Amino acid sequence: MRSDESKFSIFSKKKTVETDPSQLKIPTHLAVIMDGNGRWAKKRMLPRSAGHRAGADNLKNLCKNCGHYGIKYVTVYAFSTENWSRPESEVHTLMELFVEYFDRYDPELEQEGIRVRFTGDIAALPENIQAVCKRAEEGSKHRDRMTLIVAFNYGGRREIVQASQKLAERVAAGDITSDQITEELFAQNLYLPDVPDPDLIIRPSGEERTSNFLVWEGAYSELWFSDVLWPDFGMQELTDALIAYTKRDRRFGGLSEKKDDV
Ligand code: IPE
Ligand code: IPE
Ligand code: MG
Repeated sequence: MRSDESKFSIFSKKKTVETDPSQLKIPTHLAVIMDGNGRWAKKRMLPRSAGHRAGADNLKNLCKNCGHYGIKYVTVYAFSTENWSRPESEVHTLMELFVEYFDRYDPELEQEGIRVRFTGDIAALPENIQAVCKRAEEGSKHRDRMTLIVAFNYGGRREIVQASQKLAERVAAGDITSDQITEELFAQNLYLPDVPDPDLIIRPSGEERTSNFLVWEGAYSELWFSDVLWPDFGMQELTDALIAYTKRDRRFGGLSEKKDDV
């Protein structure tokens, strides 16, 4: 495996400025839809499971690369509430990879100072998967360089429905009245209320949709798409996304802060 240094020096020959974090606007929270594993495998005449394995391996690179840029939160979409509709054998492979992953890479995650958290309907997952989540979260609580949030059995609509259920129970119990439900209170009932909304959502693989990812939290996220398939998504693509993000003018419904704009 190449070391960080050799990797970055390859890019620095080509793009000195761009890999320098101080030249870029760095999102606090980056979210990535890890899509295209199946097509990556197909192109190589490999089974889809090989694509998922390559995709899981690439998550390690993403973490390293995001660490280089000092990104604080990275959320990755690993399994959606809709992915249960895939063949049983593929779902099984994805669950197996999930179980293997955190034990295998924990030393590297520790070395990089990466805290691991999960978002999604975790309580509905099999017990062994829930145990993996608990172990990874508990064992990484003390790390503070970056937080990796793995969206697993995640669906934006389900998250919103579950937040609504929690609030409805409070209304029924007489704890709050319905008119006390504000956007702020609603957001506090989502899966990870303490995590800031994603600034930038990246989707590789050529698809230009969000597929039920961070429906509430992504309301004002910048979107960036790439044709590269997830297992091939590397430092170059991340850097291109950050260059594009640096040029975006985030107005949040207001007016531009750029002085030369009217
Ligand atoms: C993303 O890759 C992984 C998951 C959705 C779990 P895909 O498996 O969707 O790959 P493509 O889109 O078929 O290429
Ligand atoms: C989105 O990819 C979900 C994940 C990457 C985990 P999909 O491959 O499931 O999305 P669609 O079906 O193309 O919208
Ligand atoms: Mg896909």
